Amino acid sequence: MNFDRSNALRSRFHQLIPGGAHTYAKGDDQYPEGMAPYIVRGAGSHVWDVDGNEFIEYGSGLRAVGLGHAFAPVIEAARRQLEFGANFVRPATIELDCAEAFLECVPSAEMVKFCKDGSDATSGALKLARAHTGRDHVAICANHPFFSVDDWFIGASGMPGGIPQATRDLTLKFNYNDLASLEALFAAQPHKIAAVVLEAEKETAPAPGFLQGVRDLCDRQGALLILDEMITGFRWHRAGAQALYGIRPDLSTFGKALANGFSVSALAGRRDVMALGGAEHDRERVFLLSTTHGGETHGLAAAIATMQFYRNEPVIETLWARGRRLADGLRQAASAAGVADFVPILGQPCCLVFGSRDAQGQPSQPFRTLLMQQILQRGVLATSLVVNYSHSEADIDRTVDAFAAAFAVYRRALDDGVERHLVGRPVKPAIRRFA
Ligand SMILES: Cc1ncc(COP(=O)(O)O)c(C=O)c1O
Repeated sequence: MNFDRSNALRSRFHQLIPGGAHTYAKGDDQYPEGMAPYIVRGAGSHVWDVDGNEFIEYGSGLRAVGLGHAFAPVIEAARRQLEFGANFVRPATIELDCAEAFLECVPSAEMVKFCKDGSDATSGALKLARAHTGRDHVAICANHPFFSVDDWFIGASGMPGGIPQATRDLTLKFNYNDLASLEALFAAQPHKIAAVVLEAEKETAPAPGFLQGVRDLCDRQGALLILDEMITGFRWHRAGAQALYGIRPDLSTFGKALANGFSVSALAGRRDVMALGGAEHDRERVFLLSTTHGGETHGLAAAIATMQFYRNEPVIETLWARGRRLADGLRQAASAAGVADFVPILGQPCCLVFGSRDAQGQPSQPFRTLLMQQILQRGVLATSLVVNYSHSEADIDRTVDAFAAAFAVYRRALDDGVERHLVGRPVKPAIRRFA
């Protein structure tokens, strides 16, 4: 593998774009030094970079590409729609078609509003909850890494620069699978918490009764339950993790895989709450998700085609099956190489990630970098192990082979020191206070 052209482009990216990428999680500080490829094109589960390298890619589009790159039924639908125009002065009929398709898909929801980014959907949900309850505070799950680019969340993150203290003070944190920590927030701020925001699941599965406990607590305390289904939606189940776990949120937010990489996100939920964003009520109105590009027609055409494909084909089953094959293969290879305790394969099969621990068993960025260095050299581009529908069994097996070779190096580095094997500086967390 040769990264010369990517490395030559790097300074130009940083000169013109703060951070060198339009999304921090895509930044080259997330990759081994000198091995951060700039992508030219993708097809299915593969991508090609400016140097002509081909990779099997995981976590495509930060998990937005659930079916595969340039997936024919989706791009054909978008292409057809492009011929009719992208955006008009009045709503296009496709806005209603897409709403119907979505609400058929997610039966817990009675109304839906589309927008372009997941952040807008989740922030819109919080605004509705605040208006509905007349309360200002929000309780977010401390173990879930991201809900929105907006101040209510970023102010409570590891990178709160530029966000007023008054805003930061309104966001409180509880721990996943720890109902008592949420009860304590309600006790400390009686009648002040408008909403509880969490994902149904990340790497840790919900403890029996936890999600229902959160539901019941919200009901007792008069707060709304907002379920962020940005990642779990169209992955855990066609109707989201809420369907898999039988949990009824008041509002839920979707994005990412909803339109297979096209920019469409959704805020959906209870009619009486969602309707505050309309004009058919006597209460104070809420300015809910009203953006120039919210109804962009080809994005909605892509969303409809994506949802149709999920309805007609075994997408969810395939994601789980491929993930299982990958997890089994990697765990076996890790055991064989003697690194199973150091490279845990975590999460549900449809959304796997790998850990990287040092010889003392502590999470280690240098070891993560070493592992990525090794798999990149073997044609696997992966900051996670999140599969899409286009990953074939052969892709999975090739990935396992690449990791197996990487594990042998990892084992040696555990024994004789990671510095001897690492080329360049370690990767860094995407959200951090200082460079
Ligand atoms: C769980 C979750 N919620 C919300 C968001 C924000 O979505 P977007 O980046 O589309 O604004 C993300 C993005 O990574 C996410 O992972």
